[in-house]
Amino acid sequence: MPETGEYEIIKTRRLNPGAFEMTVWAPEISDAAVPGQFVHIRCGAERLLRRPISICDAEKGALRLVIGERGEGTKWLAGLKAGQKIDLLGPLGRGFTIDAGGEPVLLVGGGIGVPPLLFAAKRLSGRAHAAVGFCDKDAVMLVGTLNECCAGVCLSTDDGSAGVHGYVDTLVRKNLESIHFGRILACGPRPMLRAVAACAREYQVPCEVSLEERMGCGVGACLVCACKMKKDDGFTYKHVCSDGPVFDANEVIWDE
Ligand code: FES
Repeated sequence: MPETGEYEIIKTRRLNPGAFEMTVWAPEISDAAVPGQFVHIRCGAERLLRRPISICDAEKGALRLVIGERGEGTKWLAGLKAGQKIDLLGPLGRGFTIDAGGEPVLLVGGGIGVPPLLFAAKRLSGRAHAAVGFCDKDAVMLVGTLNECCAGVCLSTDDGSAGVHGYVDTLVRKNLESIHFGRILACGPRPMLRAVAACAREYQVPCEVSLEERMGCGVGACLVCACKMKKDDGFTYKHVCSDGPVFDANEVIWDE
């Protein structure tokens, strides 16, 4: 059952010009969370809609969240300091599959899609390899931390200012050519996920993607996040908030 309440901010830290990290003391949420799940955050009394934020890490009662400043709500969150309280609902949604087997897993992230992969990398205990992409060197974040818990990390930027010049799917292809992976877990913008899903199909590796959608309630009650997905020969609608946000890449209708 998701928990809701006011939780104390332990620490905040800027990661790059457009994103910051917030660590919150929330044992009930932290202890129950699995990689790929999210929390729904209230952004001040005057904003009715909460913002869904992926869980970047959950350990010993603390919840680590990385928030991209995209609008008024997240800018308001950026102004909060350690010692203040924040209203959270979570953990929510269906997370990534963390197989018990020993096969390597490829984590693929783009931009603000990178933080939840850190939680997955930690749970995979050294079996994870990560391929992460950002628009430029100023947007790069968490690569050092990923390096500490992955067997290998490679980086690309769209403009070539850090790592390999190009999109992250180039790195995915290179990884798939040299290592046999049991699964790919991906989080990032939809065009990136679509490209990763195509690579996974080509190399016949099971792939899960974390989709991003606008959300209202966050618990499957309002239909704001409804998304058209494949079913037999037709389609069905699923809720990104409660059926996802993680889905099998083969379920997604990428042309929508
Ligand atoms: Fe309300 Fe998903 S956000 S149903």
